[in-house]
Amino acid sequence: MDNLVIEGGVPLHGTIRVSGAKNAALPILSAALLTDGACTFRNVPKLRDIDTMAALLRFMGCETDVAAPVVQVRAGSMRRAEAPYELVKQMRASVLALGPLVARHGRAKVSLPGGCAIGARPIDQHLKGLEAMGATIRLEHGYVHAECARLRGATIHLDMATVTGTENLMMAAALAKGHTQLIGAAREPEVEELGRVLNKMGARVDGAGTDVIHIEGVDTLHPVDHAIIPDRIEAGTFMVAAAAAGGDVLVEGVVPEHVDPTSAKMRAAGVEVTREEGGMRVRSPGGRALRAVDITTAPHPGFPTDMQAQFMALMTLAQGASVVTESVFENRFMHVPELNRMGANIEVRGRVAIVNGVDGLSSAAVMATDLRASACLVIAGLVATGQTEVLRVYHLDRGYEAIEAKLAPLGARIRRVRAAT
Ligand code: EPU
Repeated sequence: MDNLVIEGGVPLHGTIRVSGAKNAALPILSAALLTDGACTFRNVPKLRDIDTMAALLRFMGCETDVAAPVVQVRAGSMRRAEAPYELVKQMRASVLALGPLVARHGRAKVSLPGGCAIGARPIDQHLKGLEAMGATIRLEHGYVHAECARLRGATIHLDMATVTGTENLMMAAALAKGHTQLIGAAREPEVEELGRVLNKMGARVDGAGTDVIHIEGVDTLHPVDHAIIPDRIEAGTFMVAAAAAGGDVLVEGVVPEHVDPTSAKMRAAGVEVTREEGGMRVRSPGGRALRAVDITTAPHPGFPTDMQAQFMALMTLAQGASVVTESVFENRFMHVPELNRMGANIEVRGRVAIVNGVDGLSSAAVMATDLRASACLVIAGLVATGQTEVLRVYHLDRGYEAIEAKLAPLGARIRRVRAAT
């Protein structure tokens, strides 16, 4: 497995381009199951999770051609309505096959994803919604078996604004008979993007991006050619990296509104964040010159849980104490012990972390158990004195396209090395 070696302490200068959004691309690739024809998706990031989704579609019998940033999927040859444990355990977003499979093929067998590094992450809301649409659900030997000859529209009250739950139910409702109302839906830009793609396919989705989504079911959908929105979390990660290391960086291609919650907190900390033609510019004197600010993660448009770890890396050096509250996932502080090993001063009390700013971080060999925690350690490595080794880059490669190749032109001293076997 590869590692990243980072020599910290260098300010960042220049322009960095954002790739397509992982969490938009995954449901959209799955939406290709709703039609027989050949769909073409552009601006798809080159990531391990995209390869896993393509492998899942191929397992089902779909034809795929992955040549990132262009991915083609033809589901006409699909013959197996199943997402096996081997693939779901690699990527829990595989559960996004459930809605389209039941809607289009009348049945689905999808492995239960189980817990993961950041929390228990049940899928009860996905199942409750499908049941309300008439599906019979059986849980057997670790698999969900869902069946329904034709789903019918329903009013579904979601207990929490689940992102993939909303997406699964939108895709299912697109081909159901009659009207579906999703109340308490997730409002993330990726949900809105899926609504756009479904409508391009001929669906009748209204209100995606708000907390009430109306879907009038149609009988068939047709293939699309669509370019995926930029990744707001990758963009936010680069913005926070520039703020922590100091310097002047233009993050190109980002939709400014998508990073508003992150930009606002960065400004409150003393970073200059401005909108420019083509992206967001970040000018920063570096982490030690910033002030501590508090953050509480929340569903969109709140501060994204997917930016919590990276923002915490920024706060390790800020003046004062920052209170970081994780309200979305119950176990998303796995980066804290690693940051503390680098000299940070962070205490965790349940879902709250108190980050007391320190004068500097020192390098160490560190390892993360999830994607965003790994990104946090890269940022810490960029500001630490000495040589930081981020082990198990496997996690980063799930969600960041060639992060070292993107950061190096900004002046970052970062390189990938093969771990000794
Ligand atoms: N939840 C339930 N029951 C459900 C569904 C969710 O209790 O049926 C709970 C979860 O356990 C969690 C909360 O609701 O506590 C929110 O989870 P959500 O379902 O919104 O998360 P998700 O759809 O599984 C997506 C992203 C995550 C991101 C979260 C929150 C994708 C493929 N994944 O996950 O992205 O953290 O929304 O914004 O879209 C990442 O990219 O690093 C990542 C983890």
